[in-house]
Amino acid sequence: MTPSIADGRRLLIRDLDQLATPAAAGAPLREQELGTVEVIEHAYVLSTEGRIESVGTMRELDLAGEVEELDGRGMCAIPGLVDCHTHTCFAGDRVEEFSLRAVGASYEELHAAGGGILATVRGTRAAGEDGLRAAVQRHRDWMLQAGTTTFEGKSGYGLDRDTELASLRAIRQAGGVPTFLGAHAVPPEFESADEYLDFLLDEVLAEAAKLADAADVFVERGAFDVEQARRYLTEAKRRGLAVRLHADQFTEAGGVELAIELGARSVDHLEATGEQGVRALGKADVTAVLLPASALFLNRPMPPARSLVDAGAAVALATDFNPGSAFCESLPVVCSLACTQLGLSPAEALTACTVNAAHVLGRADRNGRLAVGYDADIVLLDAPDWRHLAYHLAGPVVAVVIRDGAEVWRR
Ligand code: NIG
Ligand code: FE
Repeated sequence: MTPSIADGRRLLIRDLDQLATPAAAGAPLREQELGTVEVIEHAYVLSTEGRIESVGTMRELDLAGEVEELDGRGMCAIPGLVDCHTHTCFAGDRVEEFSLRAVGASYEELHAAGGGILATVRGTRAAGEDGLRAAVQRHRDWMLQAGTTTFEGKSGYGLDRDTELASLRAIRQAGGVPTFLGAHAVPPEFESADEYLDFLLDEVLAEAAKLADAADVFVERGAFDVEQARRYLTEAKRRGLAVRLHADQFTEAGGVELAIELGARSVDHLEATGEQGVRALGKADVTAVLLPASALFLNRPMPPARSLVDAGAAVALATDFNPGSAFCESLPVVCSLACTQLGLSPAEALTACTVNAAHVLGRADRNGRLAVGYDADIVLLDAPDWRHLAYHLAGPVVAVVIRDGAEVWRR
């Protein structure tokens, strides 16, 4: 199921029950604008050569020339979803660890005992480049079937030169936006995090910077501290990469302040972020990426989403899809969690996983809205009201997925 590029074709999706899209211009959207979705009843959307040509009510439709038609009756159109935080490039699974956690083992204990991320590193290194390519494509197709038409994918399960670079290539080849997460964990060949960072900066970063759009680091006890993250991200910036951080997942370790200091694109997780961090992000240009499926999967506290939004922070939602802390590729499920666990409205959730997520990837001018000139990436929901996206918990709500103006999946 390779997403195809439309070849001069026009596609008219007609007679939709509703069309819903973030209402305000610009990105990222905050406060009132975060929660304002434009809803057009009895709508159409017309695309040409993979771009949106017009949207409106059926009464406004004024059509000339050849078009392919898609009957939208009983369905609602929303922008193709944007997953701005996934760890798609891995081989193997962690079902054994999942079973141990189910009866009481903790994620951090398993990590400290050489399981966790390092277990996936062993499988990923053994997969070879063909194996990684196949794995990412399989994961990409799962995401597509859940309505994700743009995805970011991180490396970070290679932790050696060849596997990290092969991971970034595999993500790009599958149509993803690659992020270099070399600083995910310290692999067993190195004595210390500092020694491993020397290796990453001297021998991997220059090549990785040619393949990736951004660099990311896991700031946490047992992974990398703020000083180490500063060194790694400063070099990554110098090489032209956008910078992002995994921060405050288990402990507040200064990642939020570092993200602001460095002008990071995003700071992600924030389950442990307190009031001061919330206030700082409220005034910052750094987007807070919230990952409620990960908090749920690990039975951890949810991030302070409502406080962040009320403080004026730019927030995005993502799955964190990975084999250990969030084996979940569904942004509709994440939207349900946003409404039931994070205190966000369906409109805030939609904006957070469309245009604000696109902003984190530097693509808000082409992804995340149903607006003229945007990529014709469209999800049709099998529902009479677009809010079923969040309301129908884990239900078969995604009916049709359109990418670049061509249908790529239908339930
Ligand atoms: O974002 N926290 C660090 N990294 C991933 C989990 C990786 C794993 O458990 O394999 C995360 O949750
Ligand atoms: Fe993550």
